[in-house]
Amino acid sequence: MIDFKDITKTYGSGTEAYAALRGISFSINEGEFVAIMGPSGSGKSTLMHILGCLDTPTSGTYRLDGKDVSTMSDNELADVRKGKIGFVFQSFNLLPRTTVLRNVMLPLVYAGVSPRERENRATAALNAAGLTEEHFTHLSNQLSGGQIQRVAIARALVNDPALILADEPTGNLDSRTSLVVLDTLQKLNRWHGRTIVLITHEPDIAEHSERIIRLRDGSIISDEKNPAPRDAARETELYDDPA
Ligand SMILES: Nc1ncnc2c1ncn2[C@@H]1O[C@H](COP(=O)(O)OP(=O)(O)OP(=O)(O)O)[C@@H](O)[C@H]1O
Ligand SMILES: [Mg+2]
Repeated sequence: MIDFKDITKTYGSGTEAYAALRGISFSINEGEFVAIMGPSGSGKSTLMHILGCLDTPTSGTYRLDGKDVSTMSDNELADVRKGKIGFVFQSFNLLPRTTVLRNVMLPLVYAGVSPRERENRATAALNAAGLTEEHFTHLSNQLSGGQIQRVAIARALVNDPALILADEPTGNLDSRTSLVVLDTLQKLNRWHGRTIVLITHEPDIAEHSERIIRLRDGSIISDEKNPAPRDAARETELYDDPA
């Protein structure tokens, strides 16, 4: 699905130039659950922006489903995103004074989907993200941190993307709530076959993925299969019942 070959990204130019990515190559198959780790400033978000077709590399080739997206125009990239990619950003903000359901329907308004279809699709996405009907009419100040993050996931799912990119989706959550979010992502991967790329700097979080790619100073320092991914659903049960 994803094929990165010698990708570089340099910000600025001349003496101000900074090489945030210095020749990155890897492939990700459809249905994989991959974590990208690395210290602050190692290039994780830069990598995600390129993966998500929000930005283009300075050099190198990026093929997404066989198509070279590394030299596409902004308009072409926007079309690729619309059809294929869902984002969960760390600093996700729900619109205030707007219900959960309307927050999730919003991307479809811009995509020109009919009101009836919008509601059907938003309901399906919220269900897939593990939020039940009773929360659909809540406003953002009536939700917990974990529920807000599930709404963020639902919003990423609403255009039915094959690829979900999540940048520190558990960044400001307590460990119990982080597990709930991880469980949601694991189910989307296992039950619905979504490809997931999860960015984190926490080893505990990364251990829930099937493969871990580590970055340092804009280069890959390791790329390894995780032989025994942790199962968030089971860990949540342990939390609920410490005996
Ligand atoms: N728009 C920009 N202009 C100039 N430099 C940038 C820009 N965006 C990022 N950088 C630099 O590129 C490097 C990588 O940044 P990036 O945001 O990818 O790191 P990160 O691994 O996501 O870090 P964090 O864990 O703190 O989110 C950093 O040194 C950063 O200062
Ligand atoms: Mg970042």
